[in-house]
Amino acid sequence: MIQKYQFGTPFATEAVVEEIQISQGKPDYGTVSLEEGFLFSYSMQEEDIVYGLGEANRGINKRGYCYISDCADDPNHTEDKLSLYGAHNFILVSGRETFGLFVDYPGKLTFDIGYDCPDLLTVSCARADLDLYVLEGESPADIVKQFRKMIGRSYIPPKFALGFGQSRWGYKTKEDFVRVAENYRKNHLPIDMIYMDIDYMEEYKDFTVNQEEFGDFSAFVEAMKEKNIRLVPIIDAGVKIEEGYPVYEEGIAQGYFCVREDKTPFTAAVWPGYTHFPDVLNPKARAWFGEKYRFLTDMGIEGFWNDMNEPAIFYTPEGIEEAKGLMKAFLADQETDARWDTTLGEKVTFLQLRGQLEELSNRKKDYEQFYHQVDGKLIRHDQVHNLFGYNMTRAAGEGFAVIDPEKRFLMFSRSSYIGMHRYGGIWMGDNKSWWSHILLNIKMLPSLNMCGFLYIGADLGGFGANTSRDLLLRWLALGVFTPLMRNHAAIGTREQECYQFGNMDDFRHILGVRYRLIPYLYSELMKAALEDELYFRPLAFDYPEDKMAAQVEDQLLLGRECMIAPVYTQNAAGRYVYLPERMKFIKFLPDGTLFEEVLEKGHHYVEIALNEVPLFIRGGKCIPVADAAECVEALDMGTVKLLGFAGASYRMYDDDGVHKDYENPGNWKILEISKSC
Ligand code: NOJ
Repeated sequence: MIQKYQFGTPFATEAVVEEIQISQGKPDYGTVSLEEGFLFSYSMQEEDIVYGLGEANRGINKRGYCYISDCADDPNHTEDKLSLYGAHNFILVSGRETFGLFVDYPGKLTFDIGYDCPDLLTVSCARADLDLYVLEGESPADIVKQFRKMIGRSYIPPKFALGFGQSRWGYKTKEDFVRVAENYRKNHLPIDMIYMDIDYMEEYKDFTVNQEEFGDFSAFVEAMKEKNIRLVPIIDAGVKIEEGYPVYEEGIAQGYFCVREDKTPFTAAVWPGYTHFPDVLNPKARAWFGEKYRFLTDMGIEGFWNDMNEPAIFYTPEGIEEAKGLMKAFLADQETDARWDTTLGEKVTFLQLRGQLEELSNRKKDYEQFYHQVDGKLIRHDQVHNLFGYNMTRAAGEGFAVIDPEKRFLMFSRSSYIGMHRYGGIWMGDNKSWWSHILLNIKMLPSLNMCGFLYIGADLGGFGANTSRDLLLRWLALGVFTPLMRNHAAIGTREQECYQFGNMDDFRHILGVRYRLIPYLYSELMKAALEDELYFRPLAFDYPEDKMAAQVEDQLLLGRECMIAPVYTQNAAGRYVYLPERMKFIKFLPDGTLFEEVLEKGHHYVEIALNEVPLFIRGGKCIPVADAAECVEALDMGTVKLLGFAGASYRMYDDDGVHKDYENPGNWKILEISKSC
């Protein structure tokens, strides 16, 4: 059951697609105060667990910290960070009382989950203009299912997008891409996609291709496809200001850019220098921007990633002016020993100047000085800040539906809000090559699924900082299970393609396991999307009576049949794992054979070598596994065997992976195990 409460005059975020009547009176859980903005308070019991918040820091159980929905371009995901790239305002309290809460509010929103006061949960924001949804159900899983239905079907990628992808910020020329493709193919390292970061463009201009480097781009895209490799270009939020650049000129002529209060286009610097932001909250501007993707789809491109769409701001002309004043004063100080009597004001310290320069990026002040034009009204950006990435990706999704209505395009975004899950997946942004980030990656997965995001994954190997061979292998062994499996790294870091570390057997094997598992992973992803289910779940969702299961933060259930327990510590030869029931422990071994052992419920230490991918199959279940292949296209479904417990059966989904023929009953098959392979 879902109750909707409305406060003030909410902005229509269109996060929710189901029609729900507004309830009068008060929510059954907690209290609401409108004395100062909006404040929801709830007293938690000791045993309560709080799930949700999608892409947020810290644990699967969110208790004990504070989280702020305020989409941030911040590449330092340290434990103290309160905001990351997404704003996913759904939480689920599970314990003495079990209920879900979705706060549909597009501005800055704070979730204090026992931070200020250990037993108190509060959700607060400055303006009481929002819709509050309170969800009740039989169990946490049931509540999430209702929530997912309410926000609409999750984005479904094409099947090739379940393959492995290689990326690096710094590939510039055709030769760079050809080299990556050749190294993968000649070493028989499976791959389906190579991502194109900003350098493929002409001066970082969206919907352009650097002609000097790529010449006949369509032919290049085609040549790559012949190798079964799709090129996936990046699109950034800011449109370069440049006379003669059609995207800029059209945007200006139509009034499709975000504006200042006086309705002149708002200017912010990002990669191309000064840019304007497309006003993706305005449906006409959104349709215009979405149609622009055609420039690349016409050349054979079938997938994209949307970046810098918080939107990130390096600096604005206004910020620079302020910094200049300070710089002038600082320089004047350097020339005279002490300068107390100039018109420039007080002495400026180096620290002040450094602080001012650092604060030029993503300044609160800048987000307060630009506007969207929606239904003829000016809406100040900071009040709807969290909707930008969502609507940029929605622009693309709506554009694809016009460009080729029956075709599935690959699409994922950096910034997001609930609602965007219908148009694309997300990657978790600029993580680091740190062991702790593998664990953070694990913890975000079920939380993101609860908020509708299914096509998800992190930069495997780590984006910032230098990776190491063992870190990359362990991270890939987790990536084997994430629908989006991509190795991506920042410019200037150690090269981390799978062929950069000498002996490639281990990499070939781990990537091979991913492809062997695709029949299962794809089927489970499709079930999760079509049936509003979770692909990744915390253990407690399926074992509610098991007190131990509720404590587990580094193992996940995957689909109905499996549990995963990745290794995320340096120099480990294995790990401790908790089995909430009897399971079959499986390791795909590098020689192509399997290690299988049935383990009883309880705690175990399991050995997992660097080149092994561990998996646990639940009692009485089985999963379909194919022979390894070097790309999705080459997967032979005729080789599918069932792996697991004798007598088990599996309900498998499969389709052509290209079109949207989801409702066809012919896509389903029941497979029964006769022998385990
Ligand atoms: C920031 C993104 O998060 C990162 O993945 C990308 O490589 C850089 N922008 C450059 O485009």
